[in-house]
Amino acid sequence: MRHLIDILELSLTELEELVLVASDIIDNPSKYSEKCKGKKLATLFFEPSTRTRLSFEAAMYELGGNVLTMADASSSSASKGESVADTAKMISCYADIIAMRHPKEGAPLVASKNATIPVINAGDGGHHHPTQTLADLLTIHREKGRFDNLTIGLCGDLKFGRTVHSLIHAMSRYKNINFVLISPEELRVPEYVKNIIVDAGHSFKEVKSLDESMAELDILYMTRVQRERFFNEEEYLRLKDSYILTTDKLNLAKEDLVIMHPLPRVNEISVAVDNDKRACYFKQALYGKYMRMALILKLLEIK
Ligand code: NCD
Repeated sequence: MRHLIDILELSLTELEELVLVASDIIDNPSKYSEKCKGKKLATLFFEPSTRTRLSFEAAMYELGGNVLTMADASSSSASKGESVADTAKMISCYADIIAMRHPKEGAPLVASKNATIPVINAGDGGHHHPTQTLADLLTIHREKGRFDNLTIGLCGDLKFGRTVHSLIHAMSRYKNINFVLISPEELRVPEYVKNIIVDAGHSFKEVKSLDESMAELDILYMTRVQRERFFNEEEYLRLKDSYILTTDKLNLAKEDLVIMHPLPRVNEISVAVDNDKRACYFKQALYGKYMRMALILKLLEIK
């Protein structure tokens, strides 16, 4: 039985297969509309979410399956002190597959060791978010047509942003990737993530200025400052407006730049940018649903 806790658990061939299946779902949705008939997905979200939870649920419904969900974590037995391990064992009696988000790094891994059904990590603390990376990869594939030879700018909260960590892991496996890490000093990429880039033989630079980097980028991945992971509010307030992408700034960018953002946006991309043809973040959210459909089929071993 397979789980998905870390994006690196999927080989490059498997990622390619998921992209192909997701593209086929986009082209032929009716072919997939009954594939998960009689199957149940449990979404266990111990942290706020809109896109990830709803796109998992939409994915399962579009595959003809059903969904069990907790209204919110504070109304679940976790608030009575139930362990993640026990929750996973128990949910295994009711559902066929679990998507779990948890504020504690490693919680979905613990769930996967105790569940008798596949567990998908839907975000664990500041650690990983592999299914966001699947959405990101499909976006890159459809907008750029390749995963190699790209200059990728990641901008904002590179310290706490788990989507950034998972995406760097994934992109480091392709050829000739140049990472431009744009953040304030305090929000730089953790050392263990930088080591992944170095070990893979890619180049990277850490810079503070978005403007100075703009012209060289093929992809710009904006992120919000992760308020909930700061130890003090003052520090958050000082850093929250570090970067704001405006239409003016885009004058410096390539014509075929792809602007991505895992969403939710706070104020780091001005709303006027949404009308620019290079803005891909809402499409990216849609692609996330198709990749989650492809992943559910894979983990449930449904052809
Ligand atoms: C991201 C997350 O939860 O890490 N959101 C998402 O799943 N699309 C990004 C964020 O919360 O900033």
